[in-house]
Amino acid sequence: MQDFSLHLAPRELYSSRVALSARRGAVIFDDLRAIQLRHGFLPKAELEALSARTQTPLYQLHSVASFYPHFHLVPPARAEIRVCADMSCHLNGACELRADIERRFAGTSKNDVEIRDVSCLGRCDHAPAVSINDRIYTDVTAEHAETIARAAIRGEDLREEHPHAQRVECASDPYPGPEKYGVLRQLIITKDYDEVLATLKESELRGMGGAGFPTSMKWDLVRKQPVTEKYIVCNADESEPGTIKDRFIMTHLAHLVVEGMAIAGLVTGAKTGILYIRHEYHLQEEILGEEIRRCYRAGLLGKNLLGSGIDYDLRVFVSPGGYICGEESALIEAIEGHRAEPRNKPPFPGVNGLYQKPTVINNVETFANAPQILARGIDWYKSAGKGGSRGLKFVGVSGHCAKPGIYEVPMGIPMREVLFDYAGGVRGGRQLKAFAPSGPSSGYLPASKVDVRLDFKALADEGSMLGSGAIVVCDDTTCMLDMALNAVRFYRNESCGKCVPCRVGSQKMVDLLTRWSQGSIPEPQYRADLSLLDELSHAMAQASICGLGQIVPAPIQSVLKHFRAEVDAHVLRGECPSGMCMSPAGRAGEANRVGIRP
Ligand SMILES: Cc1cc2nc3c(=O)[nH]c(=O)nc-3n(C[C@H](O)[C@H](O)[C@H](O)COP(=O)(O)O)c2cc1C
Ligand code: SF4
Ligand code: FES
Repeated sequence: MQDFSLHLAPRELYSSRVALSARRGAVIFDDLRAIQLRHGFLPKAELEALSARTQTPLYQLHSVASFYPHFHLVPPARAEIRVCADMSCHLNGACELRADIERRFAGTSKNDVEIRDVSCLGRCDHAPAVSINDRIYTDVTAEHAETIARAAIRGEDLREEHPHAQRVECASDPYPGPEKYGVLRQLIITKDYDEVLATLKESELRGMGGAGFPTSMKWDLVRKQPVTEKYIVCNADESEPGTIKDRFIMTHLAHLVVEGMAIAGLVTGAKTGILYIRHEYHLQEEILGEEIRRCYRAGLLGKNLLGSGIDYDLRVFVSPGGYICGEESALIEAIEGHRAEPRNKPPFPGVNGLYQKPTVINNVETFANAPQILARGIDWYKSAGKGGSRGLKFVGVSGHCAKPGIYEVPMGIPMREVLFDYAGGVRGGRQLKAFAPSGPSSGYLPASKVDVRLDFKALADEGSMLGSGAIVVCDDTTCMLDMALNAVRFYRNESCGKCVPCRVGSQKMVDLLTRWSQGSIPEPQYRADLSLLDELSHAMAQASICGLGQIVPAPIQSVLKHFRAEVDAHVLRGECPSGMCMSPAGRAGEANRVGIRP
């Protein structure tokens, strides 16, 4: 075989090797999946054979396989029961559920059953959620879980139960009839990419994945890069507790996601799009697969789109698991077949992304927004929001609310309206005590802030964030120290471990909060703890490589700000005002499970 690398300059040679090894990595990733499918785990002999076949060092295969929760290096139990332990499930009795399941299988062989916690399964509106042999079950009782697990032990095939997924009409769909992709069709003809960028800029569309970065700036940056190989990536990893909106959008507005990605491809000159989806979204993977195939048949994807000479391919990549894969540079590493460890930034993906090439990464909802704005115009977009905010927004509401679910609401409406008018208020006629506007990363706001508007700036002014629209409701029986510990524990479990501030700091924070929740600490020690917590929070925010480590302190800092008396009661007087943390019978507390890692 001719060695073309001899003709390349050293820098080109380096980047061509990086790109080659990255592409080989991705193939190895598929190989690992195939082996696991055959054997149920990754036997040593198979890994050795793969290493020899692909000339990949065994340690490299092992480093990837051991990183992702999806891969097993030893044979799993016949029934692997995973109980979601995060915010929405925690508020809906996950601790008691797990304890009950453990009682039912007490004395059962480890080869038959293994019961563990797992991070959010993306079914927060149907909590508590449980995964058994990678099939997900919702609104689970211990009896239900036992029945399914016993079937698994008998070797029966398990079937996932999909909650009712009939198509829902959405106000944000600009195509009420069967004729879709109007913006894309038009753009293929006009090729007026400047107009698209100008409209998106004027709309002030911001990213819906959490950071709220202006979308037009991202697309423009990639467009300006003077290379031919570029990528569009849709981030459908959606693994932060409480975040379920993208699941809904992919179920009911898949065509807008595909259209948004194709428009981004045309505008930036990228010829490949990859939709990165969490592996627990089996149904959405199918729906998107069907939508993509339909587009290929209609000439809207693939070679020579509608005879225009433009090529654009789109495929789905299923994540091997882990919340950190949602961080954009970790996601890129995962697609390349590496451990999903975030990269140092800069350079940002817009310049140096997938396979070191310029890459647009946007959230599902961001892509779905682009064709809405382009089809209906700026005036519609402005008028769809309230109080000066723009557009419609999908939010997931879960926890102690009467009607958990995903709601499409005008951006800018008061949280009170979202919680009480849409989500039916607090369950069982109880009082609202607190809410997280966006899962653990937004921290908790007290009920007195319920009139804050659903808006980037309004929530930031309250020290919180719009984030990914993952609203979690806490009633007046909730212990807020327990909820802070739950959130911090999630981050500790999901830290990729690449950098010390996050890896060590998140464990230190879990240790500290566990001690607090168990109470009766002398006041001077408490004061020392508080200043240690501040120092730790500062160090993590400043020195962590990615957003995960930077946000770990948010839940406890918000609880200290808004619920200080409750923390003092635990620490100084050994009292949990909600009766959750101290009572010997109170098995629902986080402190009882902090040592357990998923
Ligand atoms: C730990 C972590 C997890 C993340 N998970 C997601 C995710 O699941 N989906 C998402 O769109 N963005 C996620 N993000 C944000 C992405 O890094 C990135 O900012 C986003 O995909 C950009 O899209 P947008 O501009 O459309 O918001 C995560 C960030 C961090 C730090
Ligand atoms: S901050 Fe945490 S998750 Fe991010 S790179 Fe560091 S260790 Fe990994
Ligand atoms: S499914 Fe349990 S918190 Fe999301």
